[in-house]
Amino acid sequence: MTERLLIIGATSAIAHALARRRAARGARLVLVGRNEAALAAHADDLRVRGAAEVRTALLDADDTPRHAEVIDAAFAAFGGFDAVLIAHGVLPDQPACEASAAAALASFDTNARSVLALLTPIANRLERQRSGVIAVLSSPAGERGRASNYVYGAAKAAVAVFASGLRQRLARSGVRVLTLSPGFVDTPMTAAFPKGALWATPERVAADIDAAMRGGFGTVYTPWFWRWIMLLIRSIPERLFVRMKL
Ligand SMILES: NC(=O)c1ccc[n+]([C@@H]2O[C@H](COP(=O)([O-])OP(=O)(O)OC[C@H]3O[C@@H](n4cnc5c(N)ncnc54)[C@H](OP(=O)(O)O)[C@@H]3O)[C@@H](O)[C@H]2O)c1
Repeated sequence: MTERLLIIGATSAIAHALARRRAARGARLVLVGRNEAALAAHADDLRVRGAAEVRTALLDADDTPRHAEVIDAAFAAFGGFDAVLIAHGVLPDQPACEASAAAALASFDTNARSVLALLTPIANRLERQRSGVIAVLSSPAGERGRASNYVYGAAKAAVAVFASGLRQRLARSGVRVLTLSPGFVDTPMTAAFPKGALWATPERVAADIDAAMRGGFGTVYTPWFWRWIMLLIRSIPERLFVRMKL
């Protein structure tokens, strides 16, 4: 059967790299995002690459009152989904968030609150459907708060814990929930950072996400070595950790 895939934050570089892989296998896709022109361009690209059908829906994820309408319409369009990817996010300016609670909360709304709000109706629908996979982008930053990005990390931690609970709840219905934890990925979000050996391309990360969405389980680190880096980071005693500059 042709796969039906819903992507929220579909203009993200990681999400689009995943969508290209699925399009090449003839998937039907609904792309949700807030930038109409970018969505249309992404949809055209996926059609050229072999997608059986691509629809788009405009949504600013922060606009939580509109979530139900957009999710309902997407599910009605394809009669359900085999896979859902939630990819939108922002990397807040940490010093600005330290200076202003409003700035910290604005990024938290996008990175955590909107994701939890979207996961709720999506999970309920797949639970009733008794099939499918939900993959949501978290981050290693959510595993231990660091001085340089703990506002972003706190939101990703909220997403990871919510997804963990959802995974346990939906396992009874045959629905898989994946927490995706990519390391450093070279995308527009990280354009300002100097790149090094630990950095991966969106295509590399999308290959791992693609495989995980087909048969993976639990938390998916990509590239794989981030599982071991995070094991090490989590094991550093707090007294030592507070003196480190990471
Ligand atoms: N890059 C990394 O190193 C890395 C590492 C770990 C996790 N992640 C996570 O991976 C996900 C994808 O990021 P990326 O690296 O692919 O970056 P990206 O290309 O910059 O994508 C971020 C996407 O989020 C969308 N977005 C932001 N706020 C939104 C809102 N309020 N409503 C709807 N869409 C919104 C952006 O839309 P516009 O195009 O309209 O701005 C953009 O498409 C994010 O959740 C990110 O936190 C990234």
